[in-house]
Amino acid sequence: MDETLPEPRVRLRDATLADADAIDDLQRAQHSDGGFNDFGLPFKPVDREALAKGPLRNDDNGLLLIERILDGAVIGTIGWHRVRYGPNPESDAWMFGIDLVPKARGRGYGTEAQRLIARYLFETTPAHRVEASTDVENIAEQRALEKAGYTREGVNRKAQWRAGGRHDLVLYARLREDLA
Ligand SMILES: CC(C)(COP(=O)(O)OP(=O)(O)OC[C@H]1O[C@@H](n2cnc3c(N)ncnc32)[C@H](O)[C@@H]1OP(=O)(O)O)[C@@H](O)C(=O)NCCC(=O)NCCS
Repeated sequence: MDETLPEPRVRLRDATLADADAIDDLQRAQHSDGGFNDFGLPFKPVDREALAKGPLRNDDNGLLLIERILDGAVIGTIGWHRVRYGPNPESDAWMFGIDLVPKARGRGYGTEAQRLIARYLFETTPAHRVEASTDVENIAEQRALEKAGYTREGVNRKAQWRAGGRHDLVLYARLREDLA
């Protein structure tokens, strides 16, 4: 794979029914690889009925595939959900999570995809804030978020239960005006 190509090298796209098996493979691996996205939960196949009706996104959450432009390979997923900082819609924000297949990691694709998701959510919704939260030990994700223009805001102590213990999470965010 030619890693010297200029950006964009990945795009985010809606999933279709034809992607159902690929999504299952990605999520099955993610659920059992012992990594930062493995919560020991039982694997749940993607809802094919929903997928047949249209994209996997609604007013409160969504999932896009990360596709390598050069060969059209699906190399990961990026999903988001609404978080609320007040009872009014103006206080809503998006929290996203990302997972790349192991072979595609460490090549800058994650940085690109996380830049793209902020652009996508700011363009398609009125939200003012896009967030990501990751284990304090997940150095690759922290570095990728920083390279993608997210600001480190603080640590949520022992916020996440995973792998038999509680983990501190670092919170990152991009604001609408940060895109300028
Ligand atoms: C986290 C993830 C999305 C990052 O995407 P990526 O494409 O692998 O990351 P990038 O190549 O864009 O950037 C990674 C950066 O971290 C650095 N890095 C990676 N591992 C590191 C380590 N152990 N220590 C220090 N830096 C590290 C890389 O060198 C690179 O920085 P650089 O370009 O300045 O050299 C991807 O690795 C992944 O899907 N991991 C598994 C799932 C996961 O952890 N998701 C996030 C959970 S919240």
